[in-house]
Amino acid sequence: MSPMLTRVEVALGARAYSVLNGSGCLPSLGSLLREHGLQHSNAFVLTNPQVGALYGASLEAALRQSGFQRVVFHEIPASEEGKNWEQFSQTCASLLHHFPDAGASPLVLLLGGGVVGDLGGFAAAVYRRGVPFVQVPTTLLAAVDSSVGGKVAVNFGGVKNIMGAFSQPRLVVCDLDTLRTLSPRELRSGAAEVIKYGAVCCGSLFADLEAGALERLLALDSETLVDVVTRCVRLKAAVVERDELDKLGIRNVLNFGHTIGHALELSAHYALTHGEAISVGMVAATHLAERLGVCEHGFLQRLEALLQRAGLPLRYSGHPELFEPMLRALQLDKKFRNGKNLFVLPVRPGEWQQMEDVPWPLVHEAMHAALS
Ligand code: NAD
Ligand code: GLY
Repeated sequence: MSPMLTRVEVALGARAYSVLNGSGCLPSLGSLLREHGLQHSNAFVLTNPQVGALYGASLEAALRQSGFQRVVFHEIPASEEGKNWEQFSQTCASLLHHFPDAGASPLVLLLGGGVVGDLGGFAAAVYRRGVPFVQVPTTLLAAVDSSVGGKVAVNFGGVKNIMGAFSQPRLVVCDLDTLRTLSPRELRSGAAEVIKYGAVCCGSLFADLEAGALERLLALDSETLVDVVTRCVRLKAAVVERDELDKLGIRNVLNFGHTIGHALELSAHYALTHGEAISVGMVAATHLAERLGVCEHGFLQRLEALLQRAGLPLRYSGHPELFEPMLRALQLDKKFRNGKNLFVLPVRPGEWQQMEDVPWPLVHEAMHAALS
């Protein structure tokens, strides 16, 4: 019998797809693929050594049970350093080596966190001008964010996600049981993106997290996990449906905390996880919002309290030397145009606004506070 799954539809017309979440659904992956019209005989699975060792065999058995004949695995290193052009190129070389015949093109399955999903999605987007791929997220962060929405990329030339594409997966399947082997640090990192959704997309999610859902999520309470992941996916789907290609400013909301967060992540050479950097970035952006008089009184304290309860950093203290590299990294932010900055600022839980040309002295102040 199939396990219980929640389904969120990402309504993108010809590129529409389902996001399925449920406990214990990895062994049913093959039949889920078939039910969603993916009738391939061959599969190319991208993963990393850590995730492959945990879930590769189960995924392969699920594929073989539903008639996949060739299942090829390719691994990339298990860290942000692996999200680079060289690993991307090796992944493309492996695709070409194993599947040179256009008639035997594989279904690409991305088993892992955001690094595997972003790099593998980009390889699938460009191999033969695009082959179908399925996201099988195994981190909380990937389940609530990176596996949905079709942003695929690698880091290049010292810039995060600078080489990439928009390419939607054909299906997303998350076996929530896989999140049980995450380290506490990686679980907390995913919680940062959950808090982001509450902070700027959904006041009731923010209130529920404050009222104890956060602790239940971090304790991997089954009911909370499925509820929170599904709500976050719904929130992301709603944004992506309105601004798939990030051209209308609507999708910027998902970037709350990412402006200063990405600059920090890069400048600190990935000493912080993505979620940790975003946590510091959200505090910095909220600090900015307070100084600009945009943000409801008390919101910064509420956000900080929630992040602290999640064990996330509010600052990257004792690193003033990162100010200059962060400032350089900021200039490369995709939201900055013609020398004008743009920040995503919270207003009150579930509400946001963006502001162009924020005075640089205020930005500097927020950055100094983040590093002090
Ligand atoms: P990650 O992919 O590096 O995974 C984190 C760590 O967890 C890795 O060491 C991995 O091996 C391990 N891991 C994964 N699943 C596991 C499991 N089930 N059990 C035990 N260990 C497991 O990091 P992440 O936080 O998933 O993703 C971060 C990346 O996602 C960043 O590169 C970020 O830029 C990107 N991202 C992309 C989007 C998007 O829209 N495309 C959105 C947010 C973040
Ligand atoms: N995580 C940012 C986006 O998907 O737009």
